[in-house]
Formats: sequence, structure tokens, C-alpha cells
Amino acid sequence: MLRYDLRSLFFLFCLLSVRTVSAQNPIFACDVDGNPNLANFAFCNRSLDVYSRVKDLVGRLTLPEKVGFLGDNAGAVPRLGIPIYRWWGEALHGVSSVGHATHFSPLVPGATSFPQVILTAASFNTTLFKAIGKVVSTEARAMYNVGHTGLTFWSPNVNIFRDPRWGRGQETPGEDPLLTSKYASSYVKGLQEADEPNKLKVGACCKHYTAYDLDNWKGINRLTYNAIVTKQDLIDTFNPPFKSCVIDGNVASVMCSYNQVNGKPTCADSDLLAGTIRGDWKLNGYIVSDCDSVQVLYNNQHYVKTPEDAAAITIKSGLDLDCGQYLTKYSEAAIQAGKLTEADVDRAITNNFATQIRLGFFDGNPSKLPYGGLGPSDVCTEDNQELAREAARQGIVLLKNSNDALPFNPSTIGSLAVIGPNMNVTKTMIGNYEGIPCKYITPLQGLIQAASNSKVFAVPGCLDIKCSTNGFQLNPAKEAAAQADVTILIVGADQSIEREGLDRADLNLPGNQTVLVQEVTKVAKGLVILVIMSGGPFDILFAKNDDKISGILWVGYPGEAGGGAIADVLFGKFNPSGRLPVTWYPQSFSDKIPMTDMRMRPDSSSGYPGRTYRFYSGDVVYSFGDGLSYTNFDYKLKNAPKLVSIPLEEGHECYEQTCNSLNVTNSLCQNLAFDVHLRVKNVGAMVGGHTVFLFYTPPEIHNAPKKHLLGFEKVKLEPKAARNVLFRVDFCKDMSLVDEMGNRKVALGSHVLHVGDLKHFLIVGV
Ligand SMILES: *[C@@H]1O[C@H](CO)[C@@H](O)[C@H](O)[C@H]1NC(C)=O
Ligand SMILES: *[C@@H]1O[C@H](CO)[C@@H](O)[C@H](O)[C@H]1NC(C)=O
Ligand SMILES: *[C@@H]1O[C@H](CO)[C@@H](O)[C@H](O)[C@H]1NC(C)=O
Ligand SMILES: *[C@@H]1O[C@H](CO)[C@@H](O)[C@H](O)[C@H]1NC(C)=O
Ligand SMILES: *[C@@H]1O[C@H](CO)[C@@H](O)[C@H](O)[C@H]1NC(C)=O
Repeated sequence: MLRYDLRSLFFLFCLLSVRTVSAQNPIFACDVDGNPNLANFAFCNRSLDVYSRVKDLVGRLTLPEKVGFLGDNAGAVPRLGIPIYRWWGEALHGVSSVGHATHFSPLVPGATSFPQVILTAASFNTTLFKAIGKVVSTEARAMYNVGHTGLTFWSPNVNIFRDPRWGRGQETPGEDPLLTSKYASSYVKGLQEADEPNKLKVGACCKHYTAYDLDNWKGINRLTYNAIVTKQDLIDTFNPPFKSCVIDGNVASVMCSYNQVNGKPTCADSDLLAGTIRGDWKLNGYIVSDCDSVQVLYNNQHYVKTPEDAAAITIKSGLDLDCGQYLTKYSEAAIQAGKLTEADVDRAITNNFATQIRLGFFDGNPSKLPYGGLGPSDVCTEDNQELAREAARQGIVLLKNSNDALPFNPSTIGSLAVIGPNMNVTKTMIGNYEGIPCKYITPLQGLIQAASNSKVFAVPGCLDIKCSTNGFQLNPAKEAAAQADVTILIVGADQSIEREGLDRADLNLPGNQTVLVQEVTKVAKGLVILVIMSGGPFDILFAKNDDKISGILWVGYPGEAGGGAIADVLFGKFNPSGRLPVTWYPQSFSDKIPMTDMRMRPDSSSGYPGRTYRFYSGDVVYSFGDGLSYTNFDYKLKNAPKLVSIPLEEGHECYEQTCNSLNVTNSLCQNLAFDVHLRVKNVGAMVGGHTVFLFYTPPEIHNAPKKHLLGFEKVKLEPKAARNVLFRVDFCKDMSLVDEMGNRKVALGSHVLHVGDLKHFLIVGV
């Protein structure tokens, strides 16, 4: 009751305050309704092109006003009708309340909360990635129209999930450069694509550039961490998602990271920013710092001698916007000291304003503009919430299914025991960079609904995620399992185990969870199914090898409707089709390998095993790409070339002498594309989705990966139905290698294409 009263008071307060604010200060720039004079400013004129408008605007500003536009809470200039703009929004898997731009209220109490990215990535469905982006941007626009958010979102996180212990691995699409690149470009297109050319629905941002994948491990902190990265690993592992995000996704922004790469802070590295992002990739947008990372150069890294030096070196390296107020505070003094020029500041704010103009921020009140009709009723629609559940269903990975124990036949289940610390969680399901969801369907709620005729014993067994001393209630859990026809154990992690600022120390299930699983399994009367809810992987070899555990499912952090999706899969309303986006290493990996060793490639002289399925050849618990279905699929390779012949010009040094690789050049790469035709058949009895992976193994030169994903395609097939799948392979783009110096090469010799168990040899020669 008290709560309700406070809410309605708050609602009233919001209405009043919005009204008084909008009467004096417009919230939208160039709001000619409030001030007709603004129509005379060229920067407010929608008929002019972006750069004429920006030029006009920059020309009207004084230097103190200009530096106000270098920070994320960008300065208001009332004489020009420009209100404050808050750049920092987040929309990793739904509009989030993290940042400075977004808030929820009784008017917009929540937004659709999709699964955490690592689970969505496991769907390997690029159509889904884009569809989610589209829904998120529609909800964002609807919230913007009622003053609840901005138009710029610093999502997605496309760092490679290099080490299984990383607390932010959950935010990423996993360990593979191709999947991460496709996720980046598809999600960004979904967020950004507008009806008019060069306009933006919302502005996305790919972060954190680059080689950022350690938060806080054994006291080593991201703010001062110096990642030692080889040229080869940078170009073929860490940078591809950013390149794809800019070039294929046409993203409006890239964020540089906190860490140093090879001794230089990324936000102060002109080769990385001005050289690569702006120069080589031609970013159409702005480069933003991670929050307070400009200040970090001075305060934490002691990389520069004065705050002015931090401002000067970052802007001169290509940084346009500071998440923080350091540039706003120190850039004028840096100019006075001759360390920076006003032209440098003009360049930075030009990139920022151009982005805002493409977003329509300088077009006045949005009600008369595209998307202006969207409002609170377009947030959390039934369709959007259904897509959240569908995304979770598509991502969930079935790892074990002995004797086809799954799916359950509800008519044979008289009773069900639901056990474990994550068995009835809400907030755990939405991971980090979360908002307020529309509503939750917890695992228990999903299961009770699916098993409507069964008796359900709901016994957490653990009152906290670690099942620690006082929170460990093993006996009631054992009693329930001893009676039930089916036992479902729902364990895993939450943000107290893995999150931003917290990497894991090991890969074991937290605290006493392993004891819980083993003891409950021993006494269980019926089938035991283990459900792992987590971002990062675990060493669960004990469960994989335990004959009494019939089924294992990994469900990521499955989003607001995750419990419904888990039940859909367990009860066969949906045939699982997710595949692991990361390698599940044994615990011994984390005993031996320091998280700070950035090398992707193995080093036999020291016994370093390398990282990810591309390089690591040690034991695994589960492999990248693993995932079962309730049906089976069969492949036939219908057509693929046996030979690729590269025409060399006379005089090429490899014309006379034998070479084992050639530099990738435009002239050499003409007409080297070919097709791989497959036929895929569903040979089982249930409709299902299936991801076809096309891997290749290159010749053993230049420390090449032992296996590399070059294409994937998800298909959905009815029982007994078959379909052709075509991969168009651009040889130089998809099958080239990066050598030790960071140069792209095509290898000559025998390449092996892999599809499932099929192998196809391809000879590449001159
Ligand atoms: C806006 O720009 C167009 C194209 O240059 C011009 O014709 C029009 O007069 C301008 N509108 C105003 C209000 O200045
Ligand atoms: C499960 O969680 C829901 C939502 O928080 C709550 O209403 C319900 O009481 C919980 N059930 C059990 C058995 O803990
Ligand atoms: C596991 O449970 C036992 C018995 O309750 C307890 O003594 C121990 O501290 C717990 N371990 C952890 C890591 O919580
Ligand atoms: C390949 O490219 C690198 C870098 O541009 C250059 O140094 C090298 O000489 C080239 N090799 C050949 C054979 O052209
Ligand atoms: C991919 O996702 C879209 C959007 O949810 C869905 O319509 C489609 O069926 C999915 N494709 C497969 C093969 O599952």
C-alpha cells in the first residue's frame, strides 16, 4: 500500500516536473514551436546536408561552448535553443537503465529484456540478431519521445571472449571472430537502420576497442592493465569484430578501452584510432572513450604528466567524445598551453554533431518526425515479449541427452522436483547492462505451467548462489528428489560470481553447488536433468560423466521470459538448436594459464596450449559449436571446387621461385570466389533448427589456426525435409591468413573444408 502511494506520488511529480522543465528549457534542439527564431539557423534546416548544418553550428560557438560538447553530458547553449544532451545510454539486450540518459517511471515502467548476448549468440541466427536490434531501437525511440532516454547507446560489446574467466564474457557473442563480427554488424543494423539514407534510428557503438577482456583478476585491474598482443593476434582475432562493425554494420561509434595495448592506452593511440578506425575503416561517426578513461591516463596509468596532456593526446589521436567531463574541463587549458588547437576540438565536435543530426536531434520536436508516433504503448508489446522468449529458446544449448530422456512427456510425469539456487530467479536471468523488464517468467513458473498436471516440489536446496554454510539446505532437496519422477537441478552463476569488475578465479561450479548436484543425484528416484544458468562456461565433467544425470542444458542468462523458454525446450514445445559460442575448458586450464597471457597461439616450447577452438588442442569439457537436437540431420556435399588457381603476373617473385604464401592484393584476388553447395536433411521425426558450420583447416604455415569458421547458416527443417545450403566463399577474405607481421596472406597448398564429419580437400596453387 505504502509502495503504491509512493509510486503514484512519484508519477505526479514526474508529470509536473516534465511540464515545468519543457516550458522553460526545450528538451529537443531546434524546437521552433517554442522559439520561431530558431528556424533561421541553417543548422536547424532539415533541407540542408549534414555537413553544412554542422559547419554552421560549429561556426556559431565560442571556445568555452565548444569544449562543453566534448563530454557525455553535453553542454546546453540556450541562446541557440540547444538543450543538454546525455550521450550515455546502453542497450546491450534491451533498453538499459545503466548510464546517464535513460530512466524508467510509471509512464514507462519497463522495456523488453532479451537474453544476455552470449545466449542470443548461441542461436547462430543473424536474422534474430537483427530482429532484436530492431525491437530495441523501436522501444528506445518510443522512450525518447517521452523524454526517458537519449538516442545514442553504447552497445554492443564485441570483444572476443578470450578467457573463460572473464566477468564480462556474458556480454559478448563468444570466442569466434566470425560469429562476433556477424553479431556486431547484424545487431547494429537492427538498431540503426532508418528509412532515409544516412539517417539513424538510434546510434549504436561497438566497444571496447581493443584487446580488452580482463576486468579484475588476482588484483590485476583493467584500468592499468597492459595487454601484450602480437600484431598477428590483433589483426586476426581482436580487431575483426570492430572492422566488421564499422564496415559492414556502418556503426555510428566505436569506444576505445581502458587498458593499454603494448604499452599505449588505446584512447591515446593514433594508429588505432585516427589510423585504423577513421583512416582504414572510414568510420562515419564518433569515437568515444570508456567512462573516465581519459582521466585514467593521468590518475591511474601515470601515462601523461598533466591533465591537459591527457586531453591533448586523446583528441589528437582521434578521440571525439569523453564519457566523463575531463575533456570539457581541460581542453581549453590544453589549447592555451599550445598542446592542442581549436581546429582539433572542431574536428571532434563536428563528428559528434554530425551523429546527432543524422539522429534528428536538431530537427525539433520529434512528434512530427519519423518515429514520432511511437510512445509508451510500443514498449513491452506482446510481440516484443514473445521475441524475447523466442530468442532464449533459439539460444539454449542441449549438451547431453542420454537415451533420449528429453523431451519430457508430460503425461508420464506425476511429480517434478525443481531444485537449485537458480530455480526461481528473476534478476539473475537478465544479466548485466540490464533495464527493468516488462515482467519475468522464472524457471519454476515456466515449469509449473508446462507440467500443469504434475505435482511440483520446489526446493532451492541453497539460499544463496554459493550454497554456503547457512544457506545450504541439502536434506530437503534430497527428500524431494527421492520422491519425484523427474528432478531438475537449476544451478550456475549470477552477477556475484561473474560481472564487470569481477573475473572468476576458477571454472568450478560456485561454492557447494557440485555437492548439491552430486548428493541430490545419488538419491533421485527418477530422471535427473541439470540446467546451467551462466554467462561463462564451467568444468562440469563430473556431470557429463555421471550416468544418473540424463540431460544437461546451458541456458545462458535467458532474459525476462527465460523460464518459459527453458520449459518449452524441456517439454518439447521447442526443439533445441543452440550451439556453444565458447570452448568449455577443464579446471586445469585455469590452474595453469594466467589470464594475463594474451597469446592466442600455442607455444610448444613452454607448453602453453593456446586459446579457443582455433588454436587450443588440449582436453575440453565441451567444444565450441557443440549442441544437440531432438532430431538428426544429415549432410551431402553436392559441389565444391577441388582446385583454386591463382593467376600470377609475370615478374612476381613467386613466378620463378616456390612460395608457400602470397600477399593478398586486389589484383591477385579477382575472380577467386567459389561456391560450396550442400544438401541438409532432417532425418528425424521432429521439426528443428540446425546450424550448418563451414570450417577450414589451412596448410601449416604462419602459425595458422588449426581450424577456422568461415561461414555458418541456420536452417529450419520439417521432419524428412531437405534443403540446399549455399556458401559463397570469397577466397581472399574468408580463407586468408594473417602472418606474423600482421599482413594478410593466402596460403598455397592443401586446405581442408569441414562440414560436420565431411571433409573436402581443396588445392590452392599458382
Ligand atoms: C533551408 O534550406 C533550403 C535549401 O538550401 C532553403 O531553400 C530554405 O530557404 C532554408 N530554410 C530556411 C528557413 O532558411
Ligand atoms: C518464485 O518466484 C516468484 C517471483 O519472484 C514468487 O512470486 C514465488 O513466490 C516464488 N516461488 C517459490 C516457491 O519460491
Ligand atoms: C559447504 O557446505 C558446508 C556444510 O554446510 C560448509 O561447511 C562449507 O563452508 C560450505 N562451503 C562453501 C564454499 O560455502
Ligand atoms: C608482402 O607485403 C609486405 C607488407 O606490405 C611486404 O613487406 C612484402 O615485401 C610483400 N611480399 C611480397 C612477396 O610481395
Ligand atoms: C531465425 O530467427 C528468426 C527470428 O526469430 C526466425 O523467424 C527464424 O525462424 C529463425 N531461423 C531459424 C532457422 O531458426
